[in-house]
Amino acid sequence: MSGKESFADTAAIGRPENRVDGRPKVTGAATYAAEYDISDLLHGHVVCSAIARGRIKSIDASQALALSGVVAVFTHNNKPRTTLLGIKHKDTAAPPGQPLRPLHDATIHHSEQPVALVVAETVQIASEAAALLRIEYEVHGHTTDFVTGLPTAQVPSSRRILIPKTPKPRGNADKAFEAAEFKVDAEYHTGAVFHLPMELFATTVRWDGDGRITVFDKTQGSQNVQLYIRNVFGFSLRKIRVVNAYVGGAFGSGLRPQVSVFMAVLAAKALQRSVRVELSRAQMFHIGHRPETHQYVKLGADRTGRLQSLSHKAIGATSQHEEHQETVVHWSSTLYQCDNVNLEYELVRLDIESPTDMRAPGGATGSFAIESAMDELAHESGIDPVQLRLVNYTDRAVDANREFTSKALRACYTQAAERFGWSARNSQPRATRVDSELVGFGMASAVWDARMAPAPTRARATMFPDGSVEIASSTTDIGTGTYTILAQIAAETLNIPMSRLRVKLGDSGFPLAQVEGASWTAASTGSAVQRACEKLREKLSRSKRPLTKPLSVMGTVIPNFLEARKFAGYTHAAVFAEVRIDEQLGVIRVTRVVSAVAAGRILNPKTAGSQIKGGIVMGIGQALHEHAVVDHRFGRVMNANFADYHISCNADIQDIDVIFVDERDDKVSPIGVKGVGEIGTIGVAAAIANAVFNATGRRVRQLPITLDLLL
Ligand code: MOS
Repeated sequence: MSGKESFADTAAIGRPENRVDGRPKVTGAATYAAEYDISDLLHGHVVCSAIARGRIKSIDASQALALSGVVAVFTHNNKPRTTLLGIKHKDTAAPPGQPLRPLHDATIHHSEQPVALVVAETVQIASEAAALLRIEYEVHGHTTDFVTGLPTAQVPSSRRILIPKTPKPRGNADKAFEAAEFKVDAEYHTGAVFHLPMELFATTVRWDGDGRITVFDKTQGSQNVQLYIRNVFGFSLRKIRVVNAYVGGAFGSGLRPQVSVFMAVLAAKALQRSVRVELSRAQMFHIGHRPETHQYVKLGADRTGRLQSLSHKAIGATSQHEEHQETVVHWSSTLYQCDNVNLEYELVRLDIESPTDMRAPGGATGSFAIESAMDELAHESGIDPVQLRLVNYTDRAVDANREFTSKALRACYTQAAERFGWSARNSQPRATRVDSELVGFGMASAVWDARMAPAPTRARATMFPDGSVEIASSTTDIGTGTYTILAQIAAETLNIPMSRLRVKLGDSGFPLAQVEGASWTAASTGSAVQRACEKLREKLSRSKRPLTKPLSVMGTVIPNFLEARKFAGYTHAAVFAEVRIDEQLGVIRVTRVVSAVAAGRILNPKTAGSQIKGGIVMGIGQALHEHAVVDHRFGRVMNANFADYHISCNADIQDIDVIFVDERDDKVSPIGVKGVGEIGTIGVAAAIANAVFNATGRRVRQLPITLDLLL
């Protein structure tokens, strides 16, 4: 922690503080789920299905069990008892449907479905024994090809919680399209993108005796996992403690309890021993992913570029057993003023694992379609892409029929364009060259929800007699900087230096918090910490004597549902990209990205800036690199490894410049924060695709944009 005892240090909010958890992280002192040193620990290895659909005829574990050091093999044939109610497998982030119940029965729903757990004295023995399992399958036909499945798309049968209803059509989009002066009618495709955070999913269950367990887990919600364990395994809540003090990236993959939790708790309970289960990198390709989408956009505009007609339909992929849903199409009519709007959203069920949320779920894919289409309209009409957005700017959330809590998107366009040097753009494609490379400029708008967790969020502030203060909340820091911003909020509210603060997070025993996600943590837990510290400050100011024992207060916040009926909260951004493309080889380099973000109050420009940069890096990966190759004969991902599945690496990332525009917002959350976890990745792929068009004249309507598409 930084800071000396001086009042100059106490106006902490808004300062680019270093991470308070930086030192423990870089020195290895921060402990992750698979790193807890526990005596007498057993190790579990998850065995996964070799087929995409069918039944297990038999599993012969005799050779595995004969190996010295193997303790047990769990399959559907000998699974210890878990809840008989399918619904009890649902967690707070689950979509409609039946979550996969590991080892439930012989049915195979998707490739790499977990079918067994081998438990042994060491990791090595467990994995060797896993290879000795003899599994016979009855193979059934499967459908894993999204594109061939498109004709079977259907409107979701029930709506996922927190996903707003697709807005009803307004006006007459078809008629207005026919009459429009300029038209775009195009289809876009985005590929599946996998969750590959640095830390593998892992769960270490410490058998504490007396029916108590401590579960060190990689999760975005310790209390969500705690509830899941209670519901599935029948422990009482107070006998389960879930700890996730440090999480090495998650991006949505840790919103729902992962299979490592189920397997580790199952074995620990059955064997009454401490057990660790860590997934392999290959298995990380089957824990849920950003689903493939196919999208249809029709835009019609008048002579001045004003939108007369806006149609956006998205079809997303889901599993057979759950209806994973995302907000894909709403962003179009949230960004632009148009009287004739038609939005649709459907799902194709495939024999795949359920997709999961991934950083800006729906926004990262929907924005590619609408923002590519807007670029096409700009080209058609000869209007500058930024100007076209300004012509169609809206000061009101039309679908929701609400005012914005605040909206500084105009400033985003202006400041990013200025910093980027947009005025130097040649609107003529294929007109700019440097040496052997074609140069292109592209831009896109971005919008995302700014909201608080839709349930109470609590934080405790405790002042000790030595003047130090401890903040505690069960919320999670997945690497975003939550520890740091909470310390800043407490320091400023209590008017004490950062050095007197300790922030404790990631423990189900701490005060209530929802899963860390949806860009709501800074707004929700931040406001709860502020409230707790205000109460503590008042209490301290009333007491005349110095403290002799610790003084604790709780801060609780809930969203203002009355305000929420009048105002709609969104973050916005404008992202500009420069690409350089080798004309002969088609190799694309993203040489510059400038993103201007309007996200209300910025608590820490350094950690917030890193969130935006990280989002941009992910967007570059989505745009150019990340590509799942599925062999549909087997229904399997063939490149489930870091050698063949490309993610952006250092050499792919060049200049990234982040601007936070000034935006005051006293409605979106008590602390004025909108959240920055997801907005940074939205629009990046479109800005790059638009730059590729400007560089080459080639309009690529699918992601990733691989070099073969440019040759
Ligand atoms: Mo986020 S995709 O809600 O972790």
